[in-house]
Amino acid sequence: MTDFAAWSRALQARMETALAAALPDAAIAPTRLHEAMRYAVLGGGKRVRPMLAFAAGEAVGAPLPAVERAACAVELIHAYSLIHDDLPCMDDDALRRGKPTCHVRFDEATALLAGDALHSLAFELLAAPHAGTDADARLDMLALLARAAGSRGMCGGQAVDLAATGSTLDLAELEFMHIHKTGALIEAAVLLGASAGGLPDADTRARLRRYAHGVGLAFQVMDDVLDAETDTATLGKTAGKDAAQGKATYLTLMSVREARAYATELVERSLAAVAPFGAAGTRLADIARFIVERRY
Ligand code: IPE
Ligand code: IPE
Ligand code: MG
Ligand code: MG
Ligand code: MG
Repeated sequence: MTDFAAWSRALQARMETALAAALPDAAIAPTRLHEAMRYAVLGGGKRVRPMLAFAAGEAVGAPLPAVERAACAVELIHAYSLIHDDLPCMDDDALRRGKPTCHVRFDEATALLAGDALHSLAFELLAAPHAGTDADARLDMLALLARAAGSRGMCGGQAVDLAATGSTLDLAELEFMHIHKTGALIEAAVLLGASAGGLPDADTRARLRRYAHGVGLAFQVMDDVLDAETDTATLGKTAGKDAAQGKATYLTLMSVREARAYATELVERSLAAVAPFGAAGTRLADIARFIVERRY
C-alpha cells in the first residue's frame, strides 16, 4: 500500500503538469472561460481514471506518453461531467474538491460552457497526431470515448439518475444507472490506457472489460456509501446530499454493511479478471483494492 500511495502521488503530480499544459492558458481570450476550465480541472481530484489508464497501459506495455494523453482526455470528460452534475438543474451542489463549485465560483452560463469546452478539448487532444498511437488506434479510441460519454454511457446514466430522484429503483435498475453514469468512463479509462500503443487482442480486451465492470460499479457503490458515512471536510463535497435530495442509491436498497460487502465482492471479481496479467497487473489490482478501502 505504501508503494501504491507513492505511485499514485507521483501520477497525480504527472497529471497536474500534463493537464495544465493541455488546457488553454487563462491569459488567452476568452479569459473567464479558460479560467473556469482550469479551475474545474486543476488542483484537486483523486485522478482515479488516469490511474486506471496508466495501470492498464502498464499491464499491456503501452508507451507512457501515449497513455498520458489518453488519461488527460478521460479526465477532461470526467471534470466536465462533474461541472454539469453540480449545476442547479442537476444535483445543485455548492462544494466540489474542497472548493466552491464552478457555477458558484463563476456563474451558471460560464460553468455550462466550461463543461462543453472541456468535452471538446478531450476529443481534440485524442485526435491530434502523436507518437506511439497510429491513426487507426486513435480512431478506435475516439469512438470508444465518444460512446462512453454519450447517451449509451455517462449521459444516459445521468438521465436515469435524474429521472429516478424521489423514487426507488430495484437492484437491476440501480446497477444499470451506476454502470452507465460512472462505470462507462471508468471502462473507457482502462481500455484507452490499454489501447494507447495499439489495440490489444480480443482476449485482453475482454479481461480488461470484466475488470472495469467490477471496479466501475464498486466505485459508485462506494461513492453512495461515502456520501452517507463520511464528513464534508474529508469528502470535499457536501456529505449527506443523496438522502437529502431523495436520490436512488444502493443505500435505498441495502444497509451500509451490505453495500460495502457488495463492493468488496465486485472488486474480488475484478481481481480475478486481471490475475492472468501476473506482475504486470499489480497496479490494476492495487487500484481495485483502493476503491473499496478509500475514505474520500
Ligand atoms: C465523483 O468522482 C463522481 C463519480 C462519478 C462518483 P470521483 O470520486 O472520481 O471525483 P474526483 O475526481 O476524485 O473529485
Ligand atoms: C456523478 O454521480 C456521476 C457523474 C458526474 C457522471 P454523483 O452525483 O453521485 O457524484 P457526486 O457524489 O456529486 O460526486
Ligand atoms: Mg449526480
Ligand atoms: Mg452529484
Ligand atoms: Mg455521489
